[in-house]
Amino acid sequence: MTQKYFCQIDLNGEYDRSHEMTLQDLAVVQDLVRTHSAIVLETEKVYLVKSRLEPLAKSEGFVSLTELIQKLRQSPYGVLHKKVVEAMTTNETSFFRDLVPFEVLRKQLLPEIMARKATSKRLNMWCGASSSGQEPYSVMFTILEHLPELQNWVIQFIATDISEEMLAKCRAGTYSQLEVKRGLPASLLTRYFVKKGMGWQIREDIRRRIDFKRMNLAGPWITFPSMDLVFLRNVMIYFDMETKKQILGNIRKILNPNGYVLLGGSETTLNLDDKYERVDFSGTACYRVKKA
Ligand SMILES: C[S@@+](CC[C@H](N)C(=O)[O-])C[C@H]1O[C@@H](n2cnc3c(N)ncnc32)[C@H](O)[C@@H]1O
Repeated sequence: MTQKYFCQIDLNGEYDRSHEMTLQDLAVVQDLVRTHSAIVLETEKVYLVKSRLEPLAKSEGFVSLTELIQKLRQSPYGVLHKKVVEAMTTNETSFFRDLVPFEVLRKQLLPEIMARKATSKRLNMWCGASSSGQEPYSVMFTILEHLPELQNWVIQFIATDISEEMLAKCRAGTYSQLEVKRGLPASLLTRYFVKKGMGWQIREDIRRRIDFKRMNLAGPWITFPSMDLVFLRNVMIYFDMETKKQILGNIRKILNPNGYVLLGGSETTLNLDDKYERVDFSGTACYRVKKA
C-alpha cells in the first residue's frame, strides 16, 4: 500500500517533515483508541492525534511520534497503550456547564424525586463521564445550596470516567484559578472550597460524598444500584451509533422506572433507542423510559 503523509506546512509554505504522520501510523492509533474506549477518530482528526501524542512521545522519552507508534505496534497492550488512549480523550468541562440543566435539576427533577421517595429517603445518582469532576461537584453544590433537606437522605452518588488521570483530579478536587472562574459563582467558592497553593480545593466533607470509579462505557459495566438520575453529558458524541445504542440500552437496565437521564445539549436518544421519551424541561436533553 502506498504510504500517504500528512504534513504540516509552516508559515513560509514549506513542508515541515518532522511532524508528518503516515496513514498506517494513524490507523494504529485509531484502532487502539476505538478498541479500548469506543472513541472514533476520523482521519481528519490527524491534527488532534499529533497535538495530543507528540507531547506524550516526548515525555515518554521517544525521539518522535513515529517511534512511539512503533513501540505500540510491537508490544502487547500495556501502560503505554493506556496512556495513548487516555491522551486521546477530550476532557473539556466546566462548573455548571450549560447552566439550564442545573436549574432543571434544582426546580424540577430533584423536587419530583424527593416527593416520590419521601418515605425511603434514598437518592441514587450516576455521572458517567465525570472528566475532572466539575459536573458531579456542580450537582452536589446544587443540593447543598438549594435542597438542604436532602442532607438527611441517603445519597449514593457514583461518578465514573475512563481516564485515571481525570479520576485522580476528581478525587483531589483541586482546581486552578482559571478553572474556578469558569462557571462557578464566587459565593460557592467561598463556601465550598479552601485555598490550596495557587488554586482551590473542594472541602473534604463534600469530596467524600462522591464515589469516583474507573469505567469504560464501552466495556464491562460495574454494578450500579437502581438510578434516579443519570448524567451522561457530552461523551456519546465521540462514539459510533452501535456504541451509543448499547450504552442507552445499558442505562435502561439500571434506571429506576421513574428515573431521568440527562444528555449533553447536542445529544439525543432519537434514532438510537425508541424506548426513551424526551421530557421537555426548558429545552434540556432530559429523557426517561416510556411507560409500557
Ligand atoms: C468532554 S468530557 C465531558 C465531561 C462532562 N460530562 C461535561 O459534560 O462537562 C468527556 C469525558 O468522557 C470521558 N470518556 C471518553 N470515552 C469514554 C469511555 N469510553 N468511557 C468512559 N468515559 C469516557 C473522557 O475521559 C472525558 O473525561
